[in-house]
Amino acid sequence: MRLGTGFQSCRVNNQTGGALMKPNSDQNITTAWTNGLLATMDPEVDDQYGILPHHSLLTQGARIIGIAPTRGLDLADFDEVVDLNRALVTPGLVDCHTHLVFGGDRAGDWEMRLNGFSYAQVAAQGGGINLTVTATRQTSFDDLYRASRHRLEAMMAEGVTLVEAKSGYGLELEAERKLLEVVRGLDEYLEVDLVPTLLAAHSLPPEFVGRPDDYIEEICRHIMPKLWREGLFEAVDIFVENMAFNLDQARRLFRAAAELGIPVKAHAEQMSAMGAGRLVAEFGGLSADHLEYLDEDGVLAMSGQGVVAVLLPQAFYFLRDAKVPPIDLMRRHGVPLAVATDFNPGTSPFASIRQAMNMACTLFGLTPAEALAGVTRQAARALGRGHSHGQLKSGYKADFAVWEVKRPVEIFYELSASPLVDRVFNGISSMF
Ligand code: NIG
Ligand code: FE
Repeated sequence: MRLGTGFQSCRVNNQTGGALMKPNSDQNITTAWTNGLLATMDPEVDDQYGILPHHSLLTQGARIIGIAPTRGLDLADFDEVVDLNRALVTPGLVDCHTHLVFGGDRAGDWEMRLNGFSYAQVAAQGGGINLTVTATRQTSFDDLYRASRHRLEAMMAEGVTLVEAKSGYGLELEAERKLLEVVRGLDEYLEVDLVPTLLAAHSLPPEFVGRPDDYIEEICRHIMPKLWREGLFEAVDIFVENMAFNLDQARRLFRAAAELGIPVKAHAEQMSAMGAGRLVAEFGGLSADHLEYLDEDGVLAMSGQGVVAVLLPQAFYFLRDAKVPPIDLMRRHGVPLAVATDFNPGTSPFASIRQAMNMACTLFGLTPAEALAGVTRQAARALGRGHSHGQLKSGYKADFAVWEVKRPVEIFYELSASPLVDRVFNGISSMF
């Protein structure tokens, strides 16, 4: 192990196979993780990485209970001591927008696009989201679970500890429930936290062709309230676009969600300016995602309500888009900028959050500090977890990533080799 002798004394849990229940850390055990270069991402430290060199992270069970200079710390006060040997420590990374659970693949769609067809044309010719809906409906719970687990383990191997996962490839009550139950199963068995989102309004299912209003009604009256009562999701999402649902339909969905107290978000302004960013702000929603076509009104509305802008540069890249989201405008108006993979079979078959950070900088012009904040503090905020995840700070979850690098930018500089040397979840190390 490259991190020094302290690691020998550390509790190790290597059960990532999903055979055992997610380990619960002993709530009383105190650990001093000494000698780290901490990138706290705490804005009270500074507005960059919040770097604290030669500091120790103090944890008890699954919580951070303090951060202190290593010098002067009485190590005898702790049950365990782990020497981080000057490695860089960041909060566990957060992927706040994924379509993790689906059957089949869309390689054929991609080939069609490379042969000159647009995303909308491919969808109109029997490809697109509904091709995945057909495959997903035909795939058993067990097979969906297995495939999703592998994708999730790839994310975890890059230091991710919190992942949002949307439904949206079922588009009927039973199939949407199946997808959300897969998410719940993964959350229960793997060493990662999942946040489920209902995206029944992803595409018009074949049963409702020509009747989009009726389908929205079906979601508002049946699918959403039933699955909400079953505790299967935390927020509701909708794809607002010419090829999906319009602003009136989104408003109807959000009104019904508001009556049940369900937080909202949207796939907004990805291919055209539909006004969904503004609508999310009007409903005090969590995030508006994509945003290539967001206009100044939308930026102002989002900024006024603290709606997080979730940037998805891999979808932008894979669709060979030309229009970049208005980053500068959002920055000037203080819109929080998160970054996520949008992992899905059609527009972003990339489970790599490090690649998302890299592309957020090269394609969208984020600074490296903004990119790291985008997958920690801001992504946690986009999931309504801003007070428990995404920062190294007293009272926050003891979920963090340990990197053998000198500077944070190296985390996503060389994509071919991950410098992650440990991933700690619930205060438990899973060195690999
Ligand atoms: O975020 N934009 C809509 N939804 C996904 C694409 C899903 C798909 O094509 O299967 C997205 O890009
Ligand atoms: Fe998406």
